[in-house]
Amino acid sequence: MNAVITGASKGIGKAIAERLAKEGFNVAICARNADTLAATQAEIQKINPQVQVLALSVDMEKKEDVLAFAHTINDNFSTIDILVNNAGIYVPGTIYQEDDGLLEKLMAVNVYSAYYLTRALLPTMIAQQKGHIFNLCSTASHKAYPNGGSYSITKHALLGFSKNLREELKNLQIKVTSVSPGPTLTASWEGFDGPPTRLMPPEDIASVIWSAYQLAPQTVMEDVVLRPMLGDL
Ligand SMILES: NC(=O)c1ccc[n+]([C@@H]2O[C@H](COP(=O)([O-])OP(=O)(O)OC[C@H]3O[C@@H](n4cnc5c(N)ncnc54)[C@H](OP(=O)(O)O)[C@@H]3O)[C@@H](O)[C@H]2O)c1
Repeated sequence: MNAVITGASKGIGKAIAERLAKEGFNVAICARNADTLAATQAEIQKINPQVQVLALSVDMEKKEDVLAFAHTINDNFSTIDILVNNAGIYVPGTIYQEDDGLLEKLMAVNVYSAYYLTRALLPTMIAQQKGHIFNLCSTASHKAYPNGGSYSITKHALLGFSKNLREELKNLQIKVTSVSPGPTLTASWEGFDGPPTRLMPPEDIASVIWSAYQLAPQTVMEDVVLRPMLGDL
């Protein structure tokens, strides 16, 4: 069994890759920083020495890098059971004050990368007549909030992508799940001066993905929203 997780050298993506490797999946992971990625690759391999851990340093902001990652996956994996479109960057801002070009950058990393990679890997899933695609949306996909700016626009777009994909793939035996976490303890929250328990552990997002994957073939968990016990920050 094979899984692909983008942006998996840290945070939520890493927790998902670790969990799927533990459950016996070969994993293909990517990130920009090659050193962090290599360290994560070694950690995952240690969790389960039996599985293949494919790691490629790519910048998902660039279409050619996304397609190169897809090419490597298609060369190495004859099946793709799980695809997790997780890579994303969070930059707070307001539409009227944020830097010029931020929307374009966040659209490329948070939305277009998922679109290009999914299109490149879907032929394998369609041919095998099964597969499960998870899209890491956010509570910012569902409502506007202060300093959401372009980030929130891109997360709304990713939820739209996910919903359309679900509709298009339902007759092809391929499941699509939108996962929308609220504040989760990762590098995105560096500098947060509240108690760490105010944030959700990334392992919980991985557990939800694993639970959704295990449902009966005729059942799809379409949308999951997770928030800290005390609500949004
Ligand atoms: N943490 C939260 O509170 C939260 C809440 C809701 C939704 N989310 C979503 O969950 C996803 C993961 O967030 P996170 O908090 O786990 O982030 P994180 O800790 O900052 O990790 C992001 C991962 O993605 C990689 N990455 C970033 N930009 C990339 C690019 N251009 N190309 C390839 N890889 C890239 C990073 O590695 P490199 O930097 O080396 O590239 C890293 O491995 C994102 O889509 C985020 O929007 C997070």
